[in-house]
Amino acid sequence: MMKTTQIGQPSNRVDGRAKVTGEAKYAAEFTAPGLLYGFVVSSAIARGKIKSIDTSKALALEGVHEVFSHENRPAYVWFDENYQDKDSPPGAPFRPLYSNEIQFSMQPIALVVADTFELARYAAMLVEVAYEESPFDTDFDANLDKAYVPSEYKSTPPSDPWGNPDEALASADLKLEEEYAHPSEHHNPMEMHASTAVWGDDGKLTIYDKIQGVQNSQQYISTAFGVPKEDVQVISPFVGGAFGSGLRPQYQLFLAVLAARELKRSVRVVLTRQQMFSFGHRPKTLQRFSVGASADGKLEAIHQHAFAETSKFEDYSEDVVIWPGVLYKCDNVKLSHKLVALDVYTPLDMRAPGGTTGIYALECAMDEMAYKAGVDPLEFRIKNYSEKDQNGDKPFSSKELRECYRQGAEKFGWAKRSLEPRSMKEERNLIGWGFAQGAWEATQKPAAAKAVLTTDGKLTVSSATADIGTGTYTVMTQIAAETVGLPLENVTFQLGDSSLPMSPLEGGSWTVSSVGSAVKAVCDKVRGKLFELAKQVANSPLAGAQLEDVSFADGQISLNADPTKSVSIADALKQNPGNSMEQEVKNEPSEEQQKYSPYAHSATFVEVKVDEDLGTVKVTRVVSAIAGGRIINPKTARSQILGGVVWGIGAAMEEETVMDNNLGRFMNHDLDKYHVPVNADVHEIEVIFVEEKDDIVNPLGAKGLGEIGIVSVAPAIANAVFHATGKRVRELPITLDKLL
Ligand code: MOS
Repeated sequence: MMKTTQIGQPSNRVDGRAKVTGEAKYAAEFTAPGLLYGFVVSSAIARGKIKSIDTSKALALEGVHEVFSHENRPAYVWFDENYQDKDSPPGAPFRPLYSNEIQFSMQPIALVVADTFELARYAAMLVEVAYEESPFDTDFDANLDKAYVPSEYKSTPPSDPWGNPDEALASADLKLEEEYAHPSEHHNPMEMHASTAVWGDDGKLTIYDKIQGVQNSQQYISTAFGVPKEDVQVISPFVGGAFGSGLRPQYQLFLAVLAARELKRSVRVVLTRQQMFSFGHRPKTLQRFSVGASADGKLEAIHQHAFAETSKFEDYSEDVVIWPGVLYKCDNVKLSHKLVALDVYTPLDMRAPGGTTGIYALECAMDEMAYKAGVDPLEFRIKNYSEKDQNGDKPFSSKELRECYRQGAEKFGWAKRSLEPRSMKEERNLIGWGFAQGAWEATQKPAAAKAVLTTDGKLTVSSATADIGTGTYTVMTQIAAETVGLPLENVTFQLGDSSLPMSPLEGGSWTVSSVGSAVKAVCDKVRGKLFELAKQVANSPLAGAQLEDVSFADGQISLNADPTKSVSIADALKQNPGNSMEQEVKNEPSEEQQKYSPYAHSATFVEVKVDEDLGTVKVTRVVSAIAGGRIINPKTARSQILGGVVWGIGAAMEEETVMDNNLGRFMNHDLDKYHVPVNADVHEIEVIFVEEKDDIVNPLGAKGLGEIGIVSVAPAIANAVFHATGKRVRELPITLDKLL
């Protein structure tokens, strides 16, 4: 039996010091001799054509090198209009500066390149653009009747109906028919999107990019500019938050590379906070639920019909309607997911895409059903617990959600809750206690990793993944250190470089599962080789042993039966030519895994205090119990869930990008008017990880925690607000105007 020495320890971040001292460098902090600065000119209209673009005033300024637009962009090989990056929805991707056509408000229409950022920004103001405006559609609600089923879904297509959903609904004792609205939300990571394209004398490019997949950017640039992949290296050692915004290469990357290639100079392009609102958002989503249950609260029918925003050029969709099949036992279910195409930029994955919206509506609807049946909301979930994923009729790889209920309820004190709304008070505040559950898929993707062990006992493991602040560096280091039996400080994990072994995008909560499994596999290979070498050491005490008879820890390979009998890893390595070792492994999910449905689960308990005179809501307590398989690092794991809970508070109470349909533009495009939680909005948060053993999900047994933390938070808050006030607000965010 292997002793756990690293996995499961609450290690500090291995990159923590670099991050807090400023030693960690982000895309816009890399520099190069003679670096030039690009500033993007954004379209003032939502749809139409550029009649003319006059750049003479900008170009007349000393220090302005060029203004690129559709008029003078190079005509060399461009990516095909059907080009798909690794996160593309079906359709034709937006191509910056392709033509004079305007497809959405704030579309990038020119890039001013100058000696300094300030000069480029000033010159951009002098670019004069004449437009020919066309009518546009940005009004989601007004276009619901034009909603369509896409010819191809980006997400899982809705399952065919099962059972007899229409009859079951018609004959149910208790019925609910309601609509739930989720607004558009925009990505606001701390780090703005930026790319620094460094021009090499040999014509090769080194690009520092803010991205969740360096190899995705590399492939995109290589295709768009018709250059071999080998001539494009994309580097991204640190990412200041992304959570989906960096899954697709964004337009600043394209523009920086275009300028660098044309001017044969290094160029950096950084978007402004306002321009961060010009690409990729969580789509506005409306969901119609019809639910039927027996008088005592057994679900008999669920109908979920989702309508979500997309652009006119790509059919973006997400997993909004898979959740009833995952979370509730119900024999009669009908699902649909239609798109409403608007003159906006294509929506983009944002932390738990589809889960955040779908589970919000589902969990609010189920709370309403519990009240119709007069059953405690947690009791209602227990009554309707699903033992298998009905979408594909597959067993779960593991599901300790009941344990989440139990431990979460105990910690929160749920038993003391009174069912009746408006029944709990504290001085002038109404108190509300709400519950919601959630799930997120625990996917494993193919990934590769390389390990190099050198004579000084240092191990370097690498894969082209990213660390978007989630702790990738740290957990990969732990997995490698434990597998090879080295202290943490002897192990280095490298990521964020397109020349490293193949990695999937860093997203979907699959990085630990995918890259972690590859790291484990390559380190297992190193371990096996080391063991063979250890047996060859003169008078080796391990000569007759099998791999399962030994442990690797603290740089020693020792017999389990008698740990004083050991060979050091350094001595074993001396048996190898060059006293070092290099291994590379590509790892894939097994066929056995495909027979199961792997999900992480959550149970979230929330307390709100509502001041009815002012309409203000404080989320005073959150207990989030998570079943996420094996926890590699409880400290970084907890931070992931805390971040998800905070984002859930934002989604429930604050976040919303407001479209002005007269202008076709999202109006609140800065952090003054686009509200996210601040410290004053965040109170007590408790995170519980329940024991969950899963030998199926992947070789590590870890499910990934990037997204499970957010999904059940907003509905638990909405349900708590109902419990406090007796008011159902079915439209997020729950701003005070909706409560008064
Ligand atoms: Mo996540 S939306 O896959 O970064």
